[in-house]
Amino acid sequence: MCGIVGYVGPKQALPVLINGLKRLEYRGYDSAGVAVLTDHHVEVRKSVGRLSVLEGRLEGDAPKGHTGIGHTRWATHGRPSDVNAHPHGDCSGRFVVVHNGIIENFRGLKEWLVSEGHIFKSETDTEVVPHLIEHYYSGDLADAVREAASRLRGSFALAVASSEEPDRLIAVRRDSPLIVGLGEGEQFIASDVPAILEHTRRAYILEDGEMADVTAESVEVTDLKGEAKKKKPFIVKWDPVQAERGGYPHFMLKEIHEQPKAFRDTLTGRVATNRKSVKLDELTLTPEKIKGLRKVFITAAGTAYHAGLVGKYLFERLARLPVEVDLASEYRYRDPILNPDDTLVIVVSQSGETADTLAAMRESQARGVHALAITNVVGSSVAREADDVIHTWAGPEIAVASTKAYTTQILLLTLLAVHFGQVRGTLDEARAEKVLKELVELPQKARDLLSKEEAIADFARRCAAWKDVFFIGRGLDYAVSLEGQLKLKEISYIHAEAYAAGELKHGTLALVVEGVPVIALSTQNDLREKMISNIREVKARDAFVLGIAPEGSGAEEMRHHCDQLIAIPETDGLVAPALAVIPLQLLAYHAAVARGCDVDKPRNLAKSVTVE
Ligand code: G6P
Repeated sequence: MCGIVGYVGPKQALPVLINGLKRLEYRGYDSAGVAVLTDHHVEVRKSVGRLSVLEGRLEGDAPKGHTGIGHTRWATHGRPSDVNAHPHGDCSGRFVVVHNGIIENFRGLKEWLVSEGHIFKSETDTEVVPHLIEHYYSGDLADAVREAASRLRGSFALAVASSEEPDRLIAVRRDSPLIVGLGEGEQFIASDVPAILEHTRRAYILEDGEMADVTAESVEVTDLKGEAKKKKPFIVKWDPVQAERGGYPHFMLKEIHEQPKAFRDTLTGRVATNRKSVKLDELTLTPEKIKGLRKVFITAAGTAYHAGLVGKYLFERLARLPVEVDLASEYRYRDPILNPDDTLVIVVSQSGETADTLAAMRESQARGVHALAITNVVGSSVAREADDVIHTWAGPEIAVASTKAYTTQILLLTLLAVHFGQVRGTLDEARAEKVLKELVELPQKARDLLSKEEAIADFARRCAAWKDVFFIGRGLDYAVSLEGQLKLKEISYIHAEAYAAGELKHGTLALVVEGVPVIALSTQNDLREKMISNIREVKARDAFVLGIAPEGSGAEEMRHHCDQLIAIPETDGLVAPALAVIPLQLLAYHAAVARGCDVDKPRNLAKSVTVE
């Protein structure tokens, strides 16, 4: 998944495609490719690496033609390579497809297509699509794409071209953005606005389940049954820089709002349809090995370390496994006690390139311990070297402050903890089912919570003058508090500290005086009474308390004790961290904006720290 561009019109397609892809480079990608329809042939050129590598290959070998599609890939299924780069084709070489999203049922479809005689070249989920189109094609590309799309589960934005009908492109989407740029005698397809801006500001924004049949002179939009849909062109008013951020003022805010989609993608295909078990096809750890574990280490840096702290509670609670969470920079030098027979090390890293995290993993492996990595970047060093790797499918994260990577790391740790609990027999079916059901509902709940942004923003603007802030919580809320205080510090430069609420009385209360803001998280029902006692302690010293609690009785109980309350959607306590952190991300973001900080590029902070 990543960037899609398509063109049909009087111009040479190739330069339009390459320029469009360049406009999408900011999103990050690992490979690129184009397909151009030339004299009733499909000419495909693709390459791992930057667009400049592809351009180099095209020198002296540039296909000519007026219709084409292009793609920049951010790997999900299959490592970054020439073969896995898009476009993908069918056996006959007549159909080409570029795809953003994840085809959840690709394994089943691939097996079936192979049994029908189709030959696959890549490791991608995408490749099933051109083969399906080939299977269904009987003279009309739109009909074949419609049939193929109806077989797909998961998310997709697809652009399809065929040498059978060289003046036509088909675009179709579900749960992944896709637009059709409307020109004069030429049309464009793109996953994002920047790709079309130099040609047109008029576009159809396709909705889920809509398909566009595109020729140079016409664009017809239908649903997947073929019923015509009436569309009104959207007039893009954004400047090119705004367009890169999808209209959001900063990448960080865009990425906060991408969390519902990131949740859905990361869960795709990983919860059984009956919601009773976890499906982690990529995991090679055998049930015997999981049963034999006596100890887990989680090691990471920064925000990923905070995700690890959430993981500790989950593993201990659900899988009854003792967990130590270590900062990678400490772990690598502290000579941890590792027994290869019964110890697992889990490495968490958005980029998969953090020097300390990589070194911690290598140190564990050198001592014979199985290393399981959770990372957002397919083909990263951590992903390549780990014994096992599970990817968060958060999509590229551009803002330096991590948001959607953190919450999707938490999701994967929850899935792993449920899986380990089931294999080890420490988790009963009803409890597992409850957690999995809540995970599946998380994308919608996150969307509901994000719709309350304005109330949080309003509060954050009033916080901009704060000097010192305390975050308190117990259990999982303490782990989330640590992430909340880091977010606030790293982008707004307001000093903040997180405390386990029960620890306040052991010294910290001395710093809580009149007006000092205290953000109190209470999503864990069994700990609420204790939290309320701690809130009373700070209220007795005239602190200003912002409470965060689940809607319903949780919020009711907390309301009396807090100066202000943010209610988050109700969910299982073990699933609450991925929701509870969202108001904290928004608080940090809006406080930073109000203070005039450079949100996406905070001072002294790099996205990926590849040196010690
Ligand atoms: C840097 C970034 C943090 C990130 C940490 C770990 O410090 O600024 O946002 O959490 O590295 O990065 P990783 O890519 O390993 O998750």
